[in-house]
Amino acid sequence: MSNATLSGKKILLGVTGSIAAYKVATLTRLLIREGASVRVIMTPAAARFISPLTLSTLSRHEVLIELMDEGNWNNHVALGLWADLMVIAPLTANTLAAMATGACDNLLLAVYLSARCPVLVAPAMDEDMWRHPATQRNLEQLRSDGVEWIPVGHGELASGLVGPGRMAEPEAILAVVQERLRKQGSLTGKKVLITAGPTWEPLDPVRFIGNRSSGKMGIALAKEALDRGATVVLVLGPTKVEVPEGDIQLIRVQTAEEMYAAVADLFPETDIAVFAAAVADYRPAERADRKIKRKAGELTLQLVPNPDIAALMGKQKTPRQLTIGFALETNDELTHAREKMEKKQLDMIVLNSLNDSGAGFEADTNKITILPAGNNPEEYQLKSKSAVATDIWDSIFRYFSDRLYT
Ligand code: CTP
Repeated sequence: MSNATLSGKKILLGVTGSIAAYKVATLTRLLIREGASVRVIMTPAAARFISPLTLSTLSRHEVLIELMDEGNWNNHVALGLWADLMVIAPLTANTLAAMATGACDNLLLAVYLSARCPVLVAPAMDEDMWRHPATQRNLEQLRSDGVEWIPVGHGELASGLVGPGRMAEPEAILAVVQERLRKQGSLTGKKVLITAGPTWEPLDPVRFIGNRSSGKMGIALAKEALDRGATVVLVLGPTKVEVPEGDIQLIRVQTAEEMYAAVADLFPETDIAVFAAAVADYRPAERADRKIKRKAGELTLQLVPNPDIAALMGKQKTPRQLTIGFALETNDELTHAREKMEKKQLDMIVLNSLNDSGAGFEADTNKITILPAGNNPEEYQLKSKSAVATDIWDSIFRYFSDRLYT
């Protein structure tokens, strides 16, 4: 029992009405064997596929099905707050659709809507239902709501057809749960500082020099760090992209100098700083109090350099602090990224190339290469920015957990 991988972890297991529900008995047993506390919630339809008695016996807790049970109200908010992780397996097309729209006509859906913990789902359905655009659309919606789904298996289906749609096997679901919970705590107790977005350097009260950075990549990194247990401060330049309300400490700035001041103040207390902002390298030497008027002939702007925030923090960092930077390049990408990493004394640099379509400032996707100092570059596929954030934090953990935890 000493090497139980889920010891002390609290898992809410949601079961919906699919033939694959019979496999949940095995999944429950595996989770319990690994030391987890498991509370099972079923939809009324699920109870027709597997007996609640089987699952209450295996999970050692009463199985909950109805919002109201024998005059008692099952507190869905408390259940949602109790769990470290919610796993819905099997997930039918019907419950998937309800989750994608926020419908809430049973206890399982009410708990899903009030859960503050990460949610994993293991879909199960017949091939045609799986391939239907509505199902794929709903899955995409769930993904962008932050729900992770476990790919379906390929094989014999309840209809007799052979194809994709089978629920992943209990052992595979257990492996995803273990991995997810391992990561979840990986930044507990760590202070993470992230810069994101553009900076605007004013010329006069109405004009500025800026760039098209949206801040989306930095916001995704902040969310992921929070999910992994870190205390997160996000120093964000001017962007309209919304930061989720809640536990991220948000500091709004406009200019590079303001960003620098905020970072310099916070850096001594920081364990990991990620510089994802597209900081303007120069600002106008003069900032006119009044709108600059049109005149005949040319107008010359004089620009002066802004502080290089990443480089300045690199100079003062201690061996227990990590700094991670970004490089957006158009040519000789790897060479330029390596030079930047050295010049700014970064521990890792994340390269994105403007030559890759789907990568860049305003997109919801990104294609990156990670260069950890002293190691070979790792090239990744085009992914959503939240999936890219997962890859970046995984890499930080993989290369630097020794330094972070000694
Ligand atoms: N950076 C910073 N402060 C600056 C400029 C850049 O903190 N004044 C950080 C960025 O957040 C990023 C890294 O440094 O993590 C590289 O940014 P980039 O603009 O590509 O670097 P520059 O040194 O400005 O190089 P370039 O000449 O290519 O613009």
